[in-house]
Amino acid sequence: MLRLTMNPNTIKQLAAEQAHKLQDIRRHLHSHPELSFKEFETAAFIKLHLGKMGISKIKSVANTGFEVLIEGRNPAKKTIALRGDMDALPIVETNNVDYKSKNVGIMHACGHDVHTTCLLGAAGILQQLKNEFEGTVKLIFQPGEEVIPGGATLMIKEGILNNPKVEGIFGQHVMPLIPVGKVGFRSGLYMASTDELYMTITGKGGHGAMPHLCIDPVAVMAQIITGLQQVVSRQANAIIPSVLSWGKVIANGATNVIPNEVYMEGTFRTLDEKWRETAHKKMMQVATNIAEAFGATIQFEIRKGYPFLKNEPLLTARAKSYAEAYLGKENVVDLDIWMAAEDFAYYSQEVPACFYRLGTRNEAKGITSGVHTSTFDIDEDALVIGAGLMAFIALQELG
Ligand code: NI
Repeated sequence: MLRLTMNPNTIKQLAAEQAHKLQDIRRHLHSHPELSFKEFETAAFIKLHLGKMGISKIKSVANTGFEVLIEGRNPAKKTIALRGDMDALPIVETNNVDYKSKNVGIMHACGHDVHTTCLLGAAGILQQLKNEFEGTVKLIFQPGEEVIPGGATLMIKEGILNNPKVEGIFGQHVMPLIPVGKVGFRSGLYMASTDELYMTITGKGGHGAMPHLCIDPVAVMAQIITGLQQVVSRQANAIIPSVLSWGKVIANGATNVIPNEVYMEGTFRTLDEKWRETAHKKMMQVATNIAEAFGATIQFEIRKGYPFLKNEPLLTARAKSYAEAYLGKENVVDLDIWMAAEDFAYYSQEVPACFYRLGTRNEAKGITSGVHTSTFDIDEDALVIGAGLMAFIALQELG
């Protein structure tokens, strides 16, 4: 049975009072996006707002990142962390809005402006309630989620999960598939590990009319692509989600020219660490053997990215019940496995973690574009909901 230590209406009220401010903050961040690990102005802007709220326990971590401590009564009792990422993507925004990106070629197309704004909003609420809770909330403003190695690893290496020790961490991410007003949770395995694949197949180019005098890397490429699909479809246990996709294949010959080499880039994703290791070995073996059989050579680099993300079942069950108390049962949905990756996964490998989704879709207003597209946007009603819910979850968790 859920015990409410904090009245949801109190938090809703405090969140609603910030509505205009949160919209301004989000629009400022949206129009001034910065790329991964270059979030200098973003960090300065957030710190300025934290200062205005009277929050001073701020410590830089991982260069542009920082942690913020909001201490209640008896701060040593327990520490809960809330994380928001700050970086944008190299995309030219095509939305026609007042708050369109002023840094042409850079865009908050994954909603990290929203995550940062909600975390700031949560900070404002928690700061006002300092005397009403016991323990400490650690806010993590994280840089560089979008590029390997991921800001999360750097922050963990610099001790972000210790001193004070984090006993549970929550992350919130926009989801344009879910209508605004709703949020989504999933217990256990949620997002995939991701590895980048880079391959060069070297043969011997020549006239297209005389393939017997050449070693055709294009024909070898076709065999390798087909062969590697069999690793995923025939050698993986069918109950483990796996995906292999080649998004870039360059064979720069001509109608009558067999090129010397073919270059390819792809991604491999799964949800099982043991299978991930095995799959790497098998892909290497299959690709090498196919190339060898036809007299070609390959250079195949598998660059390891983020691990899979797992939501700790007990923590997630509690967070979901808090969300139901805050938003109503009908506004909390269950999520499917999502084969994209997220560096929040690193935290989930270290401490009990819960990564949940904030609905931002509004069909009536035409807000339906997916993340990482040039037309991505949100229904800004999500800001008050996201800020309030984060604060409510932290307060409930501190009990
Ligand atoms: Ni993202």
